[in-house]
Amino acid sequence: MDLFRRKSIDELQAAAAASGMLKNLAAVDLLMLGIGAVIGTGIFVLTGVAAAKYAGPAVPLSFILSGLTCALAGLAYAEFASIVPASGSAYTYAYASLGEFIAFIVGWNLILEYTVTSSAVAVGWSGYVVGLFASAGLVLPHELVVAPAEGGIFNLPAVLITLFLSFLLVRGTKESVKLNRILVFVKLAAIFLFLVLAAPHVDATNWEPFLPFGYSGVVSGAAIVFFAYIGFDAVATTAEECRNAARDLPVGIIGSLFICTLLYAVVAAVLTGVVPYSMLDTAEPVAFALRHIGYNVGSAIVAVGAICGITTVLLVLLYGQARIFFAMSRDGMVPANVCKIHRRFHTPYRVTILGAIFVSAIAGVFPIGMIAEMANIGTLSAFLIASIGVMVLRKTEPDLKRNFKCPAVWLIAPLAVLSCGYLMANLPLATWHRFGFWILFGLCVYFGYSRAHSVIGRRAAEEAAKEEKR
Ligand code: ALA
Repeated sequence: MDLFRRKSIDELQAAAAASGMLKNLAAVDLLMLGIGAVIGTGIFVLTGVAAAKYAGPAVPLSFILSGLTCALAGLAYAEFASIVPASGSAYTYAYASLGEFIAFIVGWNLILEYTVTSSAVAVGWSGYVVGLFASAGLVLPHELVVAPAEGGIFNLPAVLITLFLSFLLVRGTKESVKLNRILVFVKLAAIFLFLVLAAPHVDATNWEPFLPFGYSGVVSGAAIVFFAYIGFDAVATTAEECRNAARDLPVGIIGSLFICTLLYAVVAAVLTGVVPYSMLDTAEPVAFALRHIGYNVGSAIVAVGAICGITTVLLVLLYGQARIFFAMSRDGMVPANVCKIHRRFHTPYRVTILGAIFVSAIAGVFPIGMIAEMANIGTLSAFLIASIGVMVLRKTEPDLKRNFKCPAVWLIAPLAVLSCGYLMANLPLATWHRFGFWILFGLCVYFGYSRAHSVIGRRAAEEAAKEEKR
């Protein structure tokens, strides 16, 4: 039964208070972090693929379907985050509600989510930068900008951007948040510039037929563009560094989701309105659409904005990854000495560096498609379990003070479980195989290390030994 040993909420709160991290994030920072984490490769790259191959002009519906799924899970996240103000997001929430084993699996999947998403985004960043350099006449050596599977040696720009942003994160959260704020504005400006330039050129005949691949195409499109929302939960990982987590976290999570869904749906509608959907399967559909209607300079400006946008995504994902690892190492799930906080910078520097090594290694040698596919399944599974967790906690701890309560929880949480499961079911079989392998690897880590080293497990063993002596 020790698989289901739980952390007490009091204990989590005490650990959070003692972590030594600075509490300097406000609601607006969280909103910015949310938008910073979310708008990036998904809208700037995947919209085109989703429209051309899956949903056609109905791709805004795919975004809305995915956005609704995230909002349902987001409400569950927000309730948990307002009760358990601790780093670690769904992992921590699961530890308090569903017990250690499930928490480990959730944490393991979150590591997968953050690591592979960061890697995919770094590769996307590299692609845009390489493209921009090329359009300015500076062609970088092919071997150093693509993965071995694509005829290169390794993807140097992807590695460099990962290492640079990780360096900033080690230096301090406040500085990273400042950079993030500037870049978020640049990317929003790029999106608005695209809308202002392109909207007058929308030709409604491009929206016909509206459902070329039927309803199933919309759902497959939703499973793909789900990637565009990955990262909004990173807001919940900042709980220990918020000035007022209970009030600000729900605002940050739901607010940033709402803004992003709106922007995605509008951008997708305009994009499919100016270019026939079948032509959108390109690496840079937004810039392509502007060139298509004759705005070459506008296209370059939007490309720069996209690079900024993708940079903010990578920054927040790297931030989130370190915080989840930090939370797991503090619980003894992974070796504890990696969660040391830097004395001067007050940041978990060792996990940040370790994460950077993994992300850049993957980004350096694997192609974007392969890594991005894995991100969706890891994230959806974590969302699904967190949504179950919120219901369990309502039953097991009904009197707990909840600063934010998920409205109509018995409707919202089951719907979140169903919609996450539905999107997962629409992912390719190969992704499920890889996911199974990752879970198997995780089980080896749990039973080979974490179970014996778990802090609460060891404590229980010590107490049992004392009892025996008596
Ligand atoms: N949501 C992030 C993006 O679209 C991962 O880049």
